[in-house]
Amino acid sequence: MSKFDTLKKLMYFKTVKRKLVACEIGPNYQLEDGVIALKLLVLLPIYHIFKKQIHQDKIIKNIFSDSSYIQFVDSGRTAMTLLLRSLSLDKESEVIIQGFSCVVVPNSVLQSNLVPILCDINETDYNLDLVDAEKKITNKTRVLIVQYSFGIIPKMNKVVEFCKKYNLILIEDCAHIFSHPILINGKEKQVGSLGYGSVLSFGRDKVVSSTIGGAVILNDSSKLYKTRLHEEYQNLPKISILREYQSLIYCILCVFLIRPFYHYGLGKLALFIFRKLHFIGGIYSIKEKKVTSEIVNHSKYSATLSILLQNQLKKISIYKAHRDNISKIYANELDLPVTNYNYLRFPVCVPSSAYSNIKSILRQNHILVGTWYNSIFIPADADLSKLSYNLGDLPICEKLVSNRVLNLPTNIHVTEKDAKKIASIIKPFLISK
Ligand SMILES: Cc1ncc(COP(=O)(O)O)c(C=O)c1O
Repeated sequence: MSKFDTLKKLMYFKTVKRKLVACEIGPNYQLEDGVIALKLLVLLPIYHIFKKQIHQDKIIKNIFSDSSYIQFVDSGRTAMTLLLRSLSLDKESEVIIQGFSCVVVPNSVLQSNLVPILCDINETDYNLDLVDAEKKITNKTRVLIVQYSFGIIPKMNKVVEFCKKYNLILIEDCAHIFSHPILINGKEKQVGSLGYGSVLSFGRDKVVSSTIGGAVILNDSSKLYKTRLHEEYQNLPKISILREYQSLIYCILCVFLIRPFYHYGLGKLALFIFRKLHFIGGIYSIKEKKVTSEIVNHSKYSATLSILLQNQLKKISIYKAHRDNISKIYANELDLPVTNYNYLRFPVCVPSSAYSNIKSILRQNHILVGTWYNSIFIPADADLSKLSYNLGDLPICEKLVSNRVLNLPTNIHVTEKDAKKIASIIKPFLISK
């Protein structure tokens, strides 16, 4: 038995009966990530003295070999802003984005002096509705951002065709998906390689995580765009040591305190106290939450966090196979179609009258489902008037954000037994959409 297995047994012996099953709270972090984060926490000052570099080559390996340019930054939102700015579009050019998303997406558009055009989504795949997008095309529309909500791949042939038809630049927001094959006109490609460029996120609840982090990928091989993107990247400040500490502490706390003891009160209390003390950073700044064109906290990535990310990437195929397996169980048990999407979270549409009831029964069973998305842009304090949003503009989004979509966890901590239990709780409430 390895030392990790022994430690695991000791740590989880008492807590296993009430272990946390959740979409959030370090869903990818396992014991060895916690141990690595602890070591990094101790070594962080030394890394800074010796100016440790990000070993980009090690991170990239074969994963992004087709990209023309890649840079690692502190978040998906920074990556999106860099990519949009590298286009140097006329001020006020329009960018099509979907509702049922995160406020940082329209923020990135505004931070690039562009105008976000909000479009509705398809009820079937939670991704951009091209029919609505078509109605909103003007002679200023230049860019379309596709989202891959929950890891679901929309009909990308149609999206690519649509962009060609209206001469739009395609950007893939891959915050919910990571290196997945996709057929475009019969040819196998990878998500993230279909348009001008794409954005990855290594945020705390993503496919792989280093608490914060992201990458910008440029597929266009022209020198002009590469140079512009590189200049934008060079202008970013270095990451602050405080954010590095906060990110490592988050991992350590999730592994050793919050996850194992969540249901004993201690985990929840620790989360509350460490947030208040700023030992754990917030996901959004106050300005970001409200919708802003101001750039907040953007920086390069951290050499230290890249070590944590490398460890996560080593496990990517295990994570993916696990997510596939758990998603299949949900689909089979809930009589939903089995797909080949690698669900980051498994979305299930329930009647809004039953939503709170289901959530509370699940909570009684120590299961915390996710709430992507319970407002047109999360978090709910986003000031939609700054995006010229009027009630009724995106009817499908409005319908789905009103307590309809439960996100079931698919992460490595969810066992087959957990998945069956979750499905058995939800099934009686389920209606067809
Ligand atoms: C759809 C989508 N795009 C982009 C992002 C931004 O990622 P990050 O938190 O790394 O900035 C998020 C964050 O949750 C997201 O949900």
